[in-house]
Amino acid sequence: MTIQIITIDGPSGSGKGTLAAKLADHYGYHLLDSGALYRLLGLSLHKAELIEKLDDEDALQQSASIAEHLNIVFKTAEQGTQIFLDGEEVTQTIRTEHVGEYASRVAAIPVLRAALVARQHAFAQAPGLVADGRDMATSIFPQAQAKIYLTASAESRAQRRVNQLQGMGLDVKMNDILANIQARDKRDMERTVAPLKPAEDAYIIDSSELNINEVFHLMTEYIDLKLAD
Ligand code: DC
Repeated sequence: MTIQIITIDGPSGSGKGTLAAKLADHYGYHLLDSGALYRLLGLSLHKAELIEKLDDEDALQQSASIAEHLNIVFKTAEQGTQIFLDGEEVTQTIRTEHVGEYASRVAAIPVLRAALVARQHAFAQAPGLVADGRDMATSIFPQAQAKIYLTASAESRAQRRVNQLQGMGLDVKMNDILANIQARDKRDMERTVAPLKPAEDAYIIDSSELNINEVFHLMTEYIDLKLAD
């Protein structure tokens, strides 16, 4: 039986995570949140005091070995997926701006990206997979039956992030968040290895003016056509 693969790539804050989870649920497929893997590796390297030393050859070798042996568990719970690193729950910790920053550094280094490839491929299991990331279609699963690139303007992504953080009771400034998003976009798009860009045959959706349900509808229409091919 062919394993169906749906890829959702795009910048952070485009709504990818929410939509990928909704699609996995709708189709009864597995879910790969590849950004979480980069975040987990960033957090591990921070804990091992290696994150600041990635330009040192020995530290980099050590980091690649940590990447290959990450002890991660994704547990499906009623309130969403719980994530454990070395037995400790880090579901919330990995979503902080700090860890996002570590992840973005890790993601720019070819040997560290390479060390996470096999782990990502292992998520492709019957009946199918929804893979959420930056290079799912261009690099990890080029054979995917349906490839979606979900984007939104930096301003609307920053506004969503501000709402989300304020909802968590945090005091945040729009300008700081926007600057962060723009810096991360630049790094993700300009890196030489697996830069963020749509695959040639991707269906591109701009969610700036759309709500989750509208985007979900566009996606399922496209995916249903592709899976029927
Ligand atoms: O989607 P996210 O914000 O959780 O991703 C965290 C970082 O990891 C972000 O800087 C982009 C990077 N990333 C990547 O380079 N490739 C992926 N497939 C997923 C995430």
